[in-house]
Amino acid sequence: VNDKIADYIVENKAPSAAELVRMYLQAGFVGTIDEAKMDRAVQSHSNWYVVRHSQGHLKGKLLGVGRFISDHARYACIYDVIVEKDSQNQGIGSAIMQRIIADCTALGIDTVHLWPSKGQKGFYTRLGFASLTAEQPAMTLGKRVALKLE
Ligand SMILES: CC(C)(COP(=O)(O)OP(=O)(O)OC[C@H]1O[C@@H](n2cnc3c(N)ncnc32)[C@H](O)[C@@H]1OP(=O)(O)O)[C@@H](O)C(=O)NCCC(=O)NCCS
Repeated sequence: VNDKIADYIVENKAPSAAELVRMYLQAGFVGTIDEAKMDRAVQSHSNWYVVRHSQGHLKGKLLGVGRFISDHARYACIYDVIVEKDSQNQGIGSAIMQRIIADCTALGIDTVHLWPSKGQKGFYTRLGFASLTAEQPAMTLGKRVALKLE
């Protein structure tokens, strides 16, 4: 792993719910984002990569997050790769992704998926990710689908 700046550490420990809410809001992510709900997210079984300042008066300050959710055998899906605005373009996003890729590779996971935010495809292309074909697109559950379970 080739880090451009040295004064940060990467922890495999979830951020707090409040920190995750702040990261989502500053990245402009949509959906119902509140601390009570994000408490479930940080307690759920995800592999987290959390970057914090390691020195000086900023020690411990959150700089970036990323995680993957996986069966640790066949599949992994990467979510929430977010670097705090003032700390972007310093190699932190790549450091998170390189660690995720290394860990998924070490586990022998066959398929690693992600779904880039608008405008971020190029960041993932340079890390070795490619779009799926039109015959095999990513799909998401539409909000207007009413599920009738009874
Ligand atoms: C996308 C994001 C995670 C990248 O993190 P970062 O720490 O700023 O990225 P890095 O500094 O590691 O960038 C590495 C390289 O990728 C390039 N890059 C960054 N974003 C890019 C993009 N959208 N398209 C193409 N290249 C990009 C950088 O220019 C840099 O190139 P260099 O090594 O030649 O200088 C960050 O910009 C971010 O958090 N954005 C907002 C949240 C978001 O949309 N996240 C994606 C969720 S899917």
